Amino acid sequence: MPEETLRPFTFDIIRAENVILNTYDNHIKRSLSAMRNQYHDEKAYEALLNQQDYMLYEVYEVKRPEIAGELLQGISIVHPGKVGDEFFMTKGHFHSELDTAEVYYCLQGEGLMVMETPEGEWAVEKLIPEKVLYVPPRWAHRSVNTSRNEDLVTFFVYPGNAGHDYGSIEKQGFRKLVVEREGEVQVIDNPRWLPPEAR
Ligand SMILES: [Fe+2]
Repeated sequence: MPEETLRPFTFDIIRAENVILNTYDNHIKRSLSAMRNQYHDEKAYEALLNQQDYMLYEVYEVKRPEIAGELLQGISIVHPGKVGDEFFMTKGHFHSELDTAEVYYCLQGEGLMVMETPEGEWAVEKLIPEKVLYVPPRWAHRSVNTSRNEDLVTFFVYPGNAGHDYGSIEKQGFRKLVVEREGEVQVIDNPRWLPPEAR
């Protein structure tokens, strides 16, 4: 590895109208079409997709080697909106290297982190500015924007060797869904979810 890549470096989180990093290597964009079968109301999903392939969330990554000992970091921006009654959210994932954790620091907006273990234990934590969330090893995680009009922006850090396992979540989603009903944010059971022994 060239010596200059081992030098410490800094970057800035710019809190302008849209939060952004002053330097980054990857800009990942996920729109509605990338979230097929993830929202419980399939009719609402198709209807919205027919309108427009809305941008749901974006990630700005600072690239580092994907090896143990390194840390990967960046910001995640989930835009506000709903599919039917279900809030815009990230795909959500386990880490391929299951025994790796992640730290999130909320910079803007309001939302929930929905989490679960392979055994089906679940947790939901609120994300508001200045809140730090520690996602322990083995917990899948998905951020959900519960604001009506503001982006949910978080800074994240996780081990370089963690990797992403989206497949398990794509099959049946998370155990809990975050919806708006009677004007309130509600965490409800996902009717498609099955406990590990029933899959
Ligand atoms: Fe992660």
